[in-house]
Amino acid sequence: MRAIMVACCIMAMALPGAAQWNGADAALERQAEMKSADDALGIIKRAVETGADVETAGLYARAIADWARKMPTLFPRNTGRSDGLKTAALAEIWSQPDEFNRRLARLMNEAAILAQALRGNDRSAIAAAYAETADACRSCHGKFRADF
Ligand code: HEC
Repeated sequence: MRAIMVACCIMAMALPGAAQWNGADAALERQAEMKSADDALGIIKRAVETGADVETAGLYARAIADWARKMPTLFPRNTGRSDGLKTAALAEIWSQPDEFNRRLARLMNEAAILAQALRGNDRSAIAAAYAETADACRSCHGKFRADF
């Protein structure tokens, strides 16, 4: 049941119009969506480790890839830490947009590869794709998210 709720949240993520949100709302929304992505990744991780519910995990991986594509709408300008908002988003997101977009595109690609791998039964390919996907999340955080 919880798994289904997470899927719904991810599907509803980053609707067009998000760019019109005020800064505080945008920050709250992206934080909530990041948490949902984390839940989804946790569900995938269990499937990778146990070999169970692999089909569901594939749907989550697909949802993460789609979400990554829409992620820019979650980061409207002037919604960073230096704008006085309660957020871990660093100013480099907006001063180095190419780099930010590269990391975002990497998540999109890795999650799509993971979704594809989960449709087959090559456990080592699945594990490798999972590791790359998790690393794509970490690599963006390492550069663009403040360490509280
Ligand atoms: C392109 C950059 C980028 C990618 C890729 C990315 N994140 Fe994030 N993430 C951020 C930023 C920036 C924040 C800080 C957001 C804020 O505080 O407003 C964040 C915050 C978070 C948070 C903390 C949310 C909170 O409670 O405030 C979690 C959890 C998280 N991300 C999980 C993930 C997971 C899981 C993935 C991969 C599936 C991922 N992120 C991919 C940039 C990224």
